[in-house]
Amino acid sequence: MNTFFIAVQIFYLLLALILIIYLLNTVLSFRKLVPYVPTPYKIIKKMIRLADIKPADKIIDLGSGSGRIILEIAKKFPNQITGIDNSPILIFITRWRFWLHKIFGRLKTKNYQIIKTDFLNYDLSQETLIFCFLTNQAMEKLAANFEKLPGGAKIISYHFHFNSDEFQQQRIDIKGRAKIYIYVKLAS
Ligand SMILES: C[S@@+](CC[C@H](N)C(=O)[O-])C[C@H]1O[C@@H](n2cnc3c(N)ncnc32)[C@H](O)[C@@H]1O
Repeated sequence: MNTFFIAVQIFYLLLALILIIYLLNTVLSFRKLVPYVPTPYKIIKKMIRLADIKPADKIIDLGSGSGRIILEIAKKFPNQITGIDNSPILIFITRWRFWLHKIFGRLKTKNYQIIKTDFLNYDLSQETLIFCFLTNQAMEKLAANFEKLPGGAKIISYHFHFNSDEFQQQRIDIKGRAKIYIYVKLAS
């Protein structure tokens, strides 16, 4: 067989392998505190609009999955952007997507980091704009971390919420049962 066909076959085998690992990772993630379910692009656009991103904002997606939210932001804004997730496979996919967008000159920011860690242990005191699509249980667990955010910092959460007197809260109802919650940290 000619080498070209062997190379094409190897390429397709690798693609199939990546797809199987991705699907397996998605299924297994349902045993975690928060499973991997990507935010729909229509919602991401709405979340970004509602966030009203300012040049000085330090942006983070808690549980960044395959990097959908942070990549959409990185394509439009020159801000500091961080994605954190505890899945090595999703971190690998996110880094790979950012690398591809970078080499094709599609990123507005050079200031981004993708970190593999547990968001429950991550210090949020320097962040000013948080995106998340988690669960109510995870949001409640994060409440103490959220309270360390600086005054004026915003949390944009798709569908899930938490309770705290330290935030001004707004709920935006979207078609169907979906909601976006906006929290603004009150000055202490
Ligand atoms: C519902 S998905 C959201 C993915 C992404 N933000 C998006 O909107 O497309 C939640 C993500 O949180 C991650 N996750 C779950 N528990 C975590 C933890 N303790 N620390 C960091 N990431 C976690 C999962 O791996 C998953 O990718």
